[in-house]
Amino acid sequence: MKFTIKNTTPTKITTDCLVIVVFKNGSLSEEAEIINNGCDKAITKIIANNDFSGKLGETALIQNISGCRSPRVLMLGLGARRELNAKNIAKAVQKALQAIFATKAKSAHFAFSALEVNDRQLPWLAMRISQEAEDLSYVYSATKSKKPILKSLKAISVSSGTRGQSKTLESALQRGKAIGNGINQAKELGNLPGNICTPTYLAEYAQRLWKEKSKVKVKVLSEKQMRKLGMGSLLSVSAGSSEEAKLIVIEYHGGKKDDKPHALVGKGITFDTGGISLKSGGGMDEMKYDMCGASSVIGSMSAIITTNLNLNVVALIAAAENMPSGKATKPGDIVTSMSGQTIEVLNTDAEGRLVLCDALTYVKRYKPKSVIDIATLTGAAVATFGSTVSALLSNDENLASEIIDSGQRSLDPVWQLPLLDEYQSMISSNFADIANIGGPKAGTITAACFLSRFTENLKWAHLDIAGSAWKSGAEKGATGRPVALLTEYLCNLAAK
Ligand code: BES
Ligand code: MN
Ligand code: ZN
Repeated sequence: MKFTIKNTTPTKITTDCLVIVVFKNGSLSEEAEIINNGCDKAITKIIANNDFSGKLGETALIQNISGCRSPRVLMLGLGARRELNAKNIAKAVQKALQAIFATKAKSAHFAFSALEVNDRQLPWLAMRISQEAEDLSYVYSATKSKKPILKSLKAISVSSGTRGQSKTLESALQRGKAIGNGINQAKELGNLPGNICTPTYLAEYAQRLWKEKSKVKVKVLSEKQMRKLGMGSLLSVSAGSSEEAKLIVIEYHGGKKDDKPHALVGKGITFDTGGISLKSGGGMDEMKYDMCGASSVIGSMSAIITTNLNLNVVALIAAAENMPSGKATKPGDIVTSMSGQTIEVLNTDAEGRLVLCDALTYVKRYKPKSVIDIATLTGAAVATFGSTVSALLSNDENLASEIIDSGQRSLDPVWQLPLLDEYQSMISSNFADIANIGGPKAGTITAACFLSRFTENLKWAHLDIAGSAWKSGAEKGATGRPVALLTEYLCNLAAK
């Protein structure tokens, strides 16, 4: 989609659909007032008829009113003017976009320049509009023989506020677009079935995507190379599969040459059957989403690379398929990780931590300034948080609060759980240095405890996105979370 700034007065804007704002109790924004004065008060007449009250997210489409160059005007309710916050307006923008998508309008203009959002500025709002527009225009079609009809909307403009802001707004629009596209990439990879999106597919996807980018290097480690490095833990997960595991390394050199990078590490289990500790059948198809940590890393890298962020970032993806077979790892097997620590695999379904621990050891060679791993790691995170927040655990309180703040700013929230020493004894083993499960209690925390054994001396945080990465039921599909959070976090680092 194309995004631009328009300085024209609302009555003179040429667009297929003009979005104007009405607050609760029918009070109009400045720009809505101008339209209302040009069309013989058509807007206030609708309000006087009690057909529109201006409550948050309410929409009404009116056609061919006088004194206005746009054939369609979409009235958008924003609720109480004083209560207008980031979350509210994002919700309203979504409602407006859905109303526009229901028409054949190819272009739309958001007349939002005079809006005062409590906790945000106009550039944030511009960014949010382009992000939401890209995000909402996503349609899955890859494996359908009848291609769905695409949405008509191809171009969006927004009014600039006080003069001189155009440049900032312009780059905000482009950033939102890049984030939206990153979200969509994450959704698409997540939604692809396990027989298409294999570890090899992910590796080739990354290689193809960044082939021409001089600032990006993609390296893919084969099982043979990983064996040489001693990644016995990661390889124990792919042992039962005929799909070869891959460690995908994406280096983005956007910052100063000698600056150490920040690191992202994604769990990329392209299908999780549970292995010999086989999962039960119901809903097992959703385990194609067990690579959503990986897809969120790819989407985030894509967003920051498109906007040429001035920061060095290294991304690792530990990609494998978890299958039962005669060659599969068995409960009780003991494997040796790249760190040298031995692991008793008490449950082959706790495989995410087994691939991540070797990736977390590998990332140390970059001497990263910070490391965030992202993983659909535990059912316990779903039980605890549902789909609203991702779980956050960290060995560094500063990093944790930066991530919490980024989650709030990007409306992609996280909630912190305690990574207390008291939990560490739950993963003790009689036969190895550690066990890969901690029993039925505190599953999200003991999973993070396991990872923490491999991140000593790193400034590290773990995001368990098992609940937030995809939706089940009628709306089944990947959400693209936490791409918005991660890009916000990285953009803030670059702005420092
Ligand atoms: N990928 C799953 C976690 C998961 C389950 C995410 C359901 C979303 C929905 C992970 O590999 C897993 O199987 N975890 C086990 C760990 C247990 C065996 C300690 C779990 O959470 O049940
Ligand atoms: Mn599992
Ligand atoms: Zn898994």
